[in-house]
Amino acid sequence: MGHNSIDFPAWLDDRVQHIESVLDQLLPPVTEAPASLHEAMRYAVLGGGKRVRAALVYAAGEATLQTSAPASAQEIGLDHAAAAVELIHAYSLIHDDLPCMDDDTLRRGRPTVHVRFNEATAMLAGDALQPLAFELLGLMPIAPALTVQATQLLARSAGSMGMVGGQAIDCESVGLELSAEQLQQMHSMKTGAMLEASVLLGGIVAGAGSSARQCLERYASAIGLAFQVVDDILDVTADTVTLGKTAGKDAAGNKPTYVSILGLDSSRELLHSLHAQAHEALLPLGPAGAQLAGIADYVVGRDR
Ligand code: IPE
Ligand code: IPE
Ligand code: MG
Ligand code: MG
Ligand code: MG
Repeated sequence: MGHNSIDFPAWLDDRVQHIESVLDQLLPPVTEAPASLHEAMRYAVLGGGKRVRAALVYAAGEATLQTSAPASAQEIGLDHAAAAVELIHAYSLIHDDLPCMDDDTLRRGRPTVHVRFNEATAMLAGDALQPLAFELLGLMPIAPALTVQATQLLARSAGSMGMVGGQAIDCESVGLELSAEQLQQMHSMKTGAMLEASVLLGGIVAGAGSSARQCLERYASAIGLAFQVVDDILDVTADTVTLGKTAGKDAAGNKPTYVSILGLDSSRELLHSLHAQAHEALLPLGPAGAQLAGIADYVVGRDR
């Protein structure tokens, strides 16, 4: 994989298409019972999404690849890790959109899973995507010690100390004025944790050493938070068609966000400094960090 020989948009396009076909192959077919559950899982995961988390797995893996292990095993490992984070992410979106949470009807330009199917199926599709993600990690053809690390990391990042914990704080914070610190804590957990896990999983599968992992950690914590700052800004500044989800939902739902607490200008300033932090963290990786740098620019500059 000549990571520096092609430009970033072409690289990203290639990895996005690749993960799409990997996910298609790894998800249960609709010919397998229960068909409606499998249909809902495939509906939630396939055919949409920016695939930022998968791209982070690939970029971090390719930036830190150790040549001692067979390349094909590492490639399959990265495919499984990238699929795993996209499955957990898709499950988190299904549940996030449920009437008992954000009550959203539009996701990735289509009806949300509970609207297209029903609430019970949406809940179960989310439930089933979760263990499938861990099954895929268990099937990585890499050193077992690395699989253990990857499994522990994903479990912790997705759970009550990470994404689900952040979602719980989000639900409890409706109508409240959070302090900037509380807001950062909530965002780092609900969104940052899974983005960080994506970056670090790439490093783990690639067998990255501790100094490379430190770079990845610093990079990941900056773009993890930056991602949700942009999400909050776009909720206010973008339109529903571009977003593929209903704009203005945060204010309508009385959610504390970076925009509601700091205002647009200060949110953009914060974004600027997180962007700079991400780039700075990559410096020790040299040219190998080019795709990670490209993803940082993409995350900060995106319009959906
Ligand atoms: C949306 O994530 C939910 C957040 C964590 C902010 P994305 O913006 O990555 O959603 P998709 O996968 O591209 O649809
Ligand atoms: C969702 O945050 C975060 C997770 C799904 C973990 P949001 O509620 O802001 O995401 P969107 O805006 O609905 O995509
Ligand atoms: Mg939400
Ligand atoms: Mg939401
Ligand atoms: Mg949002």
